[in-house]
Amino acid sequence: MLGFGAGFVAIVAFLGHSTFAASNNKTSSSAAVHWLGETPAFASGVTFGVPWPKGKFWPGETRFGVVGNTGHIEDLQSWTTGYWADGSLKWTGHAIGSSEVFYDKYTIVASSSAYTRNSSSSTSTGNSTSSLIVTNGSSETTVNTGKLSITFPKEGSIIVSTIKTEEGKTVAENGRLILQSQNWVPDTPENRGNASIQYSNFGSSINEVTVDHGSARALVTIRGQHKSTGGTDHDPWLHFVLRFYLYANSSSIRLLHSIVFDGEADKDFITGLGIRFDVPLKGEEQYNRHVRFAGVDGGILNEAVQGITGLRRDPGENVRTAQVEGRELPDTETWDARVTTRLKWIPTWGDYSLAQLTSDGFSLKKRTKAGQSWVKIPSGSRAEGLAYLGGATQGGLAVGLRDFWKRYPSGLDISNAASDTGEITLWLYSPAAEPLDLRPYHDGLKEDGYEDQLDALEITYEDYEPGFNTPTESHEQANDELSGLTSYINSPPVLVPEPDYIHQTKALGEYWELPVTDNDASKALESHLDFILEFYKSQIEQRRWYGFLEYGDFMHTYDTDRHTWRYDIGGYAWDNSELSPDLFFWLYFLRTGREDAYRFAEALTRHTGEVDVYHIGDWKGLGTRHGVQHWADSAKQARISQPQYRKYFFYLSGGDERIGELLEELLDTDKTLAHRMGTSWAAMAGGKTKLNNTVTGIAKLTNGFVTGSGLYNPETWTLGPPPTDPENHGNVSVSHLSAVFGLPEVVSEVISYFGNDLPDGFKDAWLDYCYYYRASAAEQIARYGASFGKQSLYQAHSRLAAYAAYETSNSSLTLRAWKDFYTGDGIAQNASWSTTLINGSAVLTAIDEVEWLATNDISQYGLAVIQNLAYISSALEEYAV
Ligand SMILES: *[C@@H]1O[C@H](CO)[C@@H](O)[C@H](O)[C@H]1NC(C)=O
Ligand SMILES: *[C@@H]1O[C@H](CO)[C@@H](O)[C@H](O)[C@H]1NC(C)=O
Ligand SMILES: *[C@@H]1O[C@H](CO)[C@@H](O)[C@H](O)[C@H]1NC(C)=O
Ligand SMILES: *[C@@H]1O[C@H](CO)[C@@H](O)[C@H](O)[C@H]1NC(C)=O
Ligand SMILES: *[C@@H]1O[C@H](CO)[C@@H](O)[C@H](O)[C@H]1NC(C)=O
Ligand SMILES: *[C@@H]1O[C@H](CO)[C@@H](O)[C@H](O)[C@H]1NC(C)=O
Ligand SMILES: *[C@@H]1O[C@H](CO)[C@@H](O)[C@H](O)[C@H]1NC(C)=O
Ligand SMILES: *[C@@H]1O[C@H](CO)[C@@H](O)[C@H](O)[C@H]1NC(C)=O
Ligand SMILES: *[C@@H]1O[C@H](CO)[C@@H](O)[C@H](O)[C@H]1NC(C)=O
Ligand SMILES: *[C@@H]1O[C@H](CO)[C@@H](O)[C@H](O)[C@H]1NC(C)=O
Repeated sequence: MLGFGAGFVAIVAFLGHSTFAASNNKTSSSAAVHWLGETPAFASGVTFGVPWPKGKFWPGETRFGVVGNTGHIEDLQSWTTGYWADGSLKWTGHAIGSSEVFYDKYTIVASSSAYTRNSSSSTSTGNSTSSLIVTNGSSETTVNTGKLSITFPKEGSIIVSTIKTEEGKTVAENGRLILQSQNWVPDTPENRGNASIQYSNFGSSINEVTVDHGSARALVTIRGQHKSTGGTDHDPWLHFVLRFYLYANSSSIRLLHSIVFDGEADKDFITGLGIRFDVPLKGEEQYNRHVRFAGVDGGILNEAVQGITGLRRDPGENVRTAQVEGRELPDTETWDARVTTRLKWIPTWGDYSLAQLTSDGFSLKKRTKAGQSWVKIPSGSRAEGLAYLGGATQGGLAVGLRDFWKRYPSGLDISNAASDTGEITLWLYSPAAEPLDLRPYHDGLKEDGYEDQLDALEITYEDYEPGFNTPTESHEQANDELSGLTSYINSPPVLVPEPDYIHQTKALGEYWELPVTDNDASKALESHLDFILEFYKSQIEQRRWYGFLEYGDFMHTYDTDRHTWRYDIGGYAWDNSELSPDLFFWLYFLRTGREDAYRFAEALTRHTGEVDVYHIGDWKGLGTRHGVQHWADSAKQARISQPQYRKYFFYLSGGDERIGELLEELLDTDKTLAHRMGTSWAAMAGGKTKLNNTVTGIAKLTNGFVTGSGLYNPETWTLGPPPTDPENHGNVSVSHLSAVFGLPEVVSEVISYFGNDLPDGFKDAWLDYCYYYRASAAEQIARYGASFGKQSLYQAHSRLAAYAAYETSNSSLTLRAWKDFYTGDGIAQNASWSTTLINGSAVLTAIDEVEWLATNDISQYGLAVIQNLAYISSALEEYAV
C-alpha cells in the first residue's frame, strides 16, 4: 500500500555478466528464492518479487544479478515495485527467461556502486545474450523469444496475427476473441418456443496495444471491447484487457484475460466467451493430423483426424504405431494396399468439443463436420483443460486454461480439422452452458422503501436496495496459457523468498513471526492455524465452491440444522473478504512458505479483486458486502476493496500487472467516501502525501482513533474533526468493526514506514486505542470522559492489546491480552478443533463439518494468534499455566 502504482514501476538496473563479479556475500546484499513446491520440469520463464531491508539499496545505483547452482552470475531483468519512506528500494520485481535447466534455488545479488545507469535507455539490453527481440512497428508489434515469433496487430479485430516457430513455420494465425449473447432467457422449457429471443455475435476490436520489455520478459497489453459481428446488432461492450507474457527462449505464451461486465443484467446474457486461433493444415495428410485433449490426472485423448487403427484391414503395425505416437506416417506405398485403396472410405473427424459444465464432469464428442450428428466419446470428471491440433510434419498449437474445471462452465473445441484451416477455441464460458444470468436472485420481496429494507436485514442479513445489485463487475480468467503441459498451466511455477528472509527485511510488516512451537500452548495455537487452512481447502472441494464467478471465494456462516453453509441466506452466504480472511491466509503463507497456502490465497485475492469489487460506474473502487450473489448486497464499501488484502500477492508476484491495475483503481476511492476512520481509512491510506496528511489529522484529533470518524477533504487530502465536533473538543465513538478490516496491520506498517518522521501523537493515539478498547468503563471515562459502551470482538482485539503491551513493555497488559484472547469471545478455549463426518440421508453427499466455525471468527482468531505470538509469545506459558 505504501508507495506504488504504475508511476513507480520502472526498470531500475540491468547488468550483463561481463562487468559483474560473483560474490559469496551472504549478507542482505543477496536473497535466495526457491520454487514453490517442486522444482518444475518445465517453465516458460518466471516473474517474482524480492524484498530488501530499509536504507540498503537505492534506485539508480543498484545492480542486480542472478546466480543459479553454477555460481555464474547471469542476466536479470529487474524493476522496482515498492520504496521505503527514505526512497530506498523495498520490493523489486525480476524476470528470468526460459531455459532447459531450472535450478532448485536462485540467489539474487544486489550491489550498490557509484555506477549510475542512464535511465532513458532503461530497456536496452546492452551486450546481453538475451534472445528476446521486440520490434515495435507502427501497425504491429512482434516479439521474438528465440523459439517463437508472435505478431500483434495494433488495430482491428485480430489480437495475434501469427505465431511462428524458430524454423519459420506458422503454427497459428488470426487469434481473436469471441463473444455471444442473447437478450432474454426462457424461464421454462415451454418458453423456448418464443421466437423473439435475439442472439448477437461479437469479435474483438482493439483500442490499444502497448509493449513493455526487458532482457528476459516482454509484456504485450491489448485493450479493447467486443464489437458486433453478426446476429442482432448491438453496441460494442464488454471491455477486455489481455496481457501476454513472453519470456526469452520460451516456446509458450502466458495470457492473462480480464473483462469488465458493462452490460445490463436483464438484457445482456453472455452465452459464450472465448479465444479462437486458426491452425494452418494445408498440405498435411488427414491421417497425419493429430488431435489431443487433456483428461483427468495426466490422461490424454490421442486421436488422428483420419484414424487408421482398429480397421477391418490392418495397414501395418509400423503405420499404426506411428499414428499413435504422433509421428508422420510411412509412405502409403508401404502400407497394406487393402487400406490404401480404401482410404477414401475412412471418415475424417473435423470437429471435437469438450464441455466442462460442472466441477464434477465433462462431456466430449466429435463429428465429421457440421450438419452431421455428433458421436459421444467416453468422458470423465475433471478435465485438465488443454487441447492440441497440429500436423505431424508442420507442428501445431496447444491451448490450455488454468483451473479449467474449477472455473466451469469452460470448454475446448477443435473445428474444421479436415479442411485447410483448422480452429482451436478455448471457451472461458462455454456456449454449451446455460446463459450467464447476472440478474438479482429475488424480485425485491415487495420491500417498500428503507424501513422494509432495514427490517429485512434483521432476518436475512443482506442489504437490498433496487438498482444496487447490478453486477457491473469483472471477471478474470487468470493465466490462459498456451503450453504443452497441463501441470505447468494449472500450477504455474513460482519463485519465492524464504519466510525468514521476508521477515527479516520487514517489507511485509512486523506483526508476524515464523511459527512458534516452544511450548504446548503455542503448539496448540499453531495446529489451529493449520486446521483452518486444511478445513477451508476441504470445504471448497466438498461444497463445490467452484465456477466462473465463484472460484476463490468461500462462505461466511454455517447452518447447523441443514449441515450446509448458508448459501441462500442473505449476508451469510459468500464471504467477500468479510473480517479479513485474505490477511490471515497471506500471513499464514508468509510464516510457513507452504505452496497450498499460496495457491489458496492467490485464488482468493484474484477472486475478491475482480468479482467483489466494482471497476466502473458510480461504485468504482468499492467492494460489495457479503451476500448470496457476489455483487447483490447494496452495501458498497471500501473495506472490501482494501488494498492491504492484495498487496502481499502484488509484491510477491513481482508486481502482477492486473493486481497493480486494481490497486490503481482504488487510489481515488476517497473521492466517493464519507470518512469512517477504521474501516475506510485503512482501505485508502495510499500515497505518501495523502498518508502524511491524514496521519497528521488523526494525531491532532483530541481523542485520536477513539473519535471514530473525521471530516475528510478529498481536495486537500486532509482530515479534520467530525462535523459533530467542529471545535475538536473530543467525541467518543468506537465501533467493534473499525479494527477488523486491516486497521492494526495498516497502522503498524504506517508507524514503521514513517519511522522517526511519524507525525507526533499518532503512535500514542493508536496505543491508547489499543489499550482502552478493552479497558474498564471507569478507565475509559477517566481518559475520555465517556465509556465506549458495550463492544464485542474482544478475541480479535486482543492483538491490539498485545501490540500495546509489547510497545510499552507492560507485562500486566500482556496477560490481559492473553486473557482476552482465551476468554473474551469468539472461538472458545475448549473448542473441538476437529471435524465431524455427516453422511447418510442427513445430507446430499457426505461432508465434514465443524458446528461452531464461522469465517468471521476464524479470520480474526487466526490474525490474533499470529500477532499475539509475534508480540507476546514469551508470556504465553505464564498465562497458560
Ligand atoms: C558484504 O556486503 C556488505 C554490504 O554490501 C559489506 O559491508 C560486507 O563487507 C560484505 N562482506 C563480504 C565478505 O564481502
Ligand atoms: C535457451 O534454451 C537453450 C536450449 O533450448 C539453452 O541451451 C540456452 O541456454 C537457453 N538460453 C538462455 C539465455 O537461457
Ligand atoms: C542517456 O542516453 C541518452 C540517449 O541514449 C543520451 O542522449 C544522454 O546523453 C545520455 N545521458 C547520459 C548522462 O549519459
Ligand atoms: C559490448 O561488446 C563490444 C564488442 O563485443 C565491446 O566492445 C563493448 O565494450 C561491450 N560493451 C559492454 C558495455 O560490455
Ligand atoms: C511502440 O510504438 C508506439 C507507436 O506505434 C509508441 O507509441 C510506443 O511508445 C512504442 N513503445 C515502445 C515500448 O517502444
Ligand atoms: C417472449 O420473449 C419476450 C422477450 O423477448 C418476452 O417479453 C415475452 O414475455 C416472451 N413470451 C413468452 C410467452 O414467454
Ligand atoms: C508531513 O507533513 C508535514 C506538514 O503537514 C511536514 O512538515 C512533514 O515533513 C511531512 N512528513 C513527511 C514524512 O513527509
Ligand atoms: C461531539 O462533541 C461535541 C462537542 O463536545 C458534542 O456537542 C457532541 O454531542 C458530541 N457528539 C458525539 C456524537 O459524541
Ligand atoms: C499496564 O497495563 C495495566 C493493565 O493491564 C494498567 O493497569 C497499567 O496502568 C499499565 N501500566 C502502564 C505503565 O501503563
Ligand atoms: C466449553 O465450555 C463451555 C463453558 O465454558 C461449555 O458450555 C461448553 O459445553 C464446552 N464445550 C465443549 C466442547 O466442551
